[in-house]
Amino acid sequence: PKIVVVNRAGEEKTVEADAGLSVMEAIRDNGFDELLALCGGCCSCATCHVYIDPAFADKVAPMSEDENDLLDSSDHRNETSRLSCQVQITGDLDGLRVTIAPED
Ligand code: FES
Repeated sequence: PKIVVVNRAGEEKTVEADAGLSVMEAIRDNGFDELLALCGGCCSCATCHVYIDPAFADKVAPMSEDENDLLDSSDHRNETSRLSCQVQITGDLDGLRVTIAPED
């Protein structure tokens, strides 16, 4: 599937993302260095915060309690917030638009 990534400057890039990767891996593998993802995807740093296109809200897996708690520590959380390491790419996400959240 292809996903559209919007960086903090508002620039968009369409990238090819393999099913089974996390959205975080797909973003980092495509040269976006502003998504720090410091913990490497184990849901403990919250530096992989993104906003998910609301049109896809029911196509991504629901968040865990840990993810929810971590997102609460962000000053930039909104109703479309997710930790991108916790969202897996599937064929259903073709065309998904994700926006990298501001740094906390
Ligand atoms: Fe650390 Fe996602 S990479 S919580």
